[in-house]
Amino acid sequence: MIQLKIILGSTREGRKGPAVANWVFEVAKKYTAFETELIDLKQVNLPFMDEPVHPRMQQYTHQHTKDWSAKISAADAFIFVTPEYNHGMPAPLKNALDFLFKEWAYKPVAMVGYGGVAGGTRAIQQLKQVTNTLQMFAFDGLLLANFTKQLNEGGGFAATEANEKAAEAMFVQLQKLHETLKEFRQ
Ligand SMILES: Cc1cc2nc3c(=O)[nH]c(=O)nc-3n(C[C@H](O)[C@H](O)[C@H](O)COP(=O)(O)O)c2cc1C
Repeated sequence: MIQLKIILGSTREGRKGPAVANWVFEVAKKYTAFETELIDLKQVNLPFMDEPVHPRMQQYTHQHTKDWSAKISAADAFIFVTPEYNHGMPAPLKNALDFLFKEWAYKPVAMVGYGGVAGGTRAIQQLKQVTNTLQMFAFDGLLLANFTKQLNEGGGFAATEANEKAAEAMFVQLQKLHETLKEFRQ
């Protein structure tokens, strides 16, 4: 089974990200090749990056880093569900990335952006630059423009047929990339 971690990048009070992340998590359950965990950075609750040595050395001094390292090491592939804050990526997601290095390397990441007209595009552009440095293989999974129009009263995300199709393509792409990068990691 491909160990897939869906990481939700927003942590603020009243955030809408869980609606999108929960929908992606539900879709993931249809794909039996994947064993999926939804990671909420609000629950992970990392402090601002506080390790004295560059993460490349993996000489972690804090238990929260060791726990985070174990969780990300166990992953084969990722989906980052991200909002766009002031045309950039949300700080908690950048912080969570900066804590580690090798644990991310040679793993595929599909980006699911949500926002206004741009659907998180600019956050994803920044994330591509950062994840490229971490030696990940990033691609656009889904861009959910004006996503609040698709939130229902229960706080869920009402996906369109086009969203479902794009999600399907994203899972196919993730699996293909996993097969290639798995060999590269060994
Ligand atoms: C600090 C902040 C900055 C924002 N900047 C953008 C932006 O640049 N582009 C955009 O499309 N939406 C922007 N928004 C609106 C967000 O798309 C919307 O609030 C979304 O719900 C944020 O995700 P979250 O609720 O999971 O935090 C911003 C929202 C906040 C709180």
